[in-house]
Amino acid sequence: MSNREAWASRIGLVLAMAGNAVGLGNFLRFPRQAALNGGGAYLIPYFVAFLALGIPLMWVEWAIGRYGGQFNQSTTAGQFDRMWRSGWAKVLGSLGISIPLLITIYYCYLESWTLSYTFFSLGKTYFGSTDQGAMNQFLRSYQGVVEGGPFQSMLPAIGFWVATLALNLWVLYRGISGGIEKLAKIAMPILVIFAIILVVRVITLGTPDPAFPDRNVGNGFGYVWNPDFSLLGSFPVWLAAAGQIFFTLSIGSGAIQTYASYLKKDDDCALTGLATSSTNEFVEVVLGGSIAIPIAVAFFGLEATKAIAAQGSFDLGFVAMPVIFQKLPLGFIFGALWFSLLFFAGITSSVALASPFVALLKENLGLSRVTAILVTGGVLLVFGLPIILLLQHGYMDQYDFWIGTVLLVVFSLIETLIFVFAFKRGGAAANSGGGGFRGWFKNAGVAGWEEMNRGADIRIPRFFFYVIKILLPLVLAFLLIGWIWEDVTSKSSVILMRGVEGEAAMFQWISRGSILLLMTGIAILVVVAFRRRPQ
Ligand code: PHE
Repeated sequence: MSNREAWASRIGLVLAMAGNAVGLGNFLRFPRQAALNGGGAYLIPYFVAFLALGIPLMWVEWAIGRYGGQFNQSTTAGQFDRMWRSGWAKVLGSLGISIPLLITIYYCYLESWTLSYTFFSLGKTYFGSTDQGAMNQFLRSYQGVVEGGPFQSMLPAIGFWVATLALNLWVLYRGISGGIEKLAKIAMPILVIFAIILVVRVITLGTPDPAFPDRNVGNGFGYVWNPDFSLLGSFPVWLAAAGQIFFTLSIGSGAIQTYASYLKKDDDCALTGLATSSTNEFVEVVLGGSIAIPIAVAFFGLEATKAIAAQGSFDLGFVAMPVIFQKLPLGFIFGALWFSLLFFAGITSSVALASPFVALLKENLGLSRVTAILVTGGVLLVFGLPIILLLQHGYMDQYDFWIGTVLLVVFSLIETLIFVFAFKRGGAAANSGGGGFRGWFKNAGVAGWEEMNRGADIRIPRFFFYVIKILLPLVLAFLLIGWIWEDVTSKSSVILMRGVEGEAAMFQWISRGSILLLMTGIAILVVVAFRRRPQ
């Protein structure tokens, strides 16, 4: 017990948890989603999802993690096992290791682009690709998707990727307080400062080209902030908003629970969890919402900005932004600020994503620090390489859809059900309420609620008890059905792989196979680990 790792300070914990949540999602995914889903219209469902799903789930995850930590359980496999004495608990809990690891696999590749583009900005490498067509060609050539661009081979892309993995592994090797916490203490302030500098630059842009008076920053901010109630009836906008809340808060993955397991038994969850969630929202909406969209509107106009967002997930960040940097005085510096802030945001999330797997290897399978890091590196290399080589075949899209969207909700549903209906900690939960279904239902969730409130620095309104017990299970199930329905009925269905043929179809099946393989492998590892040493 005494050699269990722990956060060194409360401020370190807050920064690490905020670093976990603040990531590429805040600066790349959010602006794109907002641009695609009506700007200000999107913000209403977004905030509803934050309050009704994000905050309560965040508390649930902190409580699960802190509870498991008392028994030395750093992953949801061991945590569920302690909460629910059923053979299924650890198997279901193994998802809290495989989901984040699967996200790490593609996330680190995206993160490596932000590292290379930092250098490409400083070295003015992309200067000369002055319009979107040329900049798009630059990106695709870097990715090895087209021939004949500025890059002769994929070596730079692979080199930066390996460097990114190495940096991540080094931080993980240094451990919770010596690696992750130290990184967050440096990276988080820097990224906020860089973001503020960029926001100030954006606000002072005015109307860059007087020939187009419509293209100004004011219109960009107007688009993000003017509420538009007409889209409130649009189901897809609600689905998109909820999806963004899961991804940006790191909810439903297992990453939060692992960080929370390094808390002490009576450390506060309620206020600190609320603080880190709010920090994430500030960085996402206020900072993330004030850079890519307004600047693109100022230079290209509103309609063109929406079109850029629609073209591809990364066009706003990696195509439009570099074109604009070339038009700004000292643009290479602003470019370096933008991409390095993305890198800092990315790395504080990717170490969180990989940490449940590292914990499984070290703490449950008893591997040494070095071996655990080497195994993690090996898995990231082997599973990551096809992501890079098969990018144009939609290999990564399968990952992003199944893991980054669907499984986050599946896992949130599983953990909520366990937390509410299976978790009994003796005490009050066992008493009152009487027998039968009514008694059972009355008691459900009481143990979890007490666990969540223990040591709390604020009083969570009682109303959230019912949100967690009744609203969450229903809404999560509903979301899941909604998503599948929306995808299956759309022209570009990922589930049915509509319009995907030949080689691409084969590669996408391989992609799915690799996901299943990793999930099964980790479930087996978990079962083995828990059989070997009864814990
Ligand atoms: N929240 C991170 C982001 O916004 C991504 C992430 C998801 C991190 C799940 C950990 C777990 O980029």
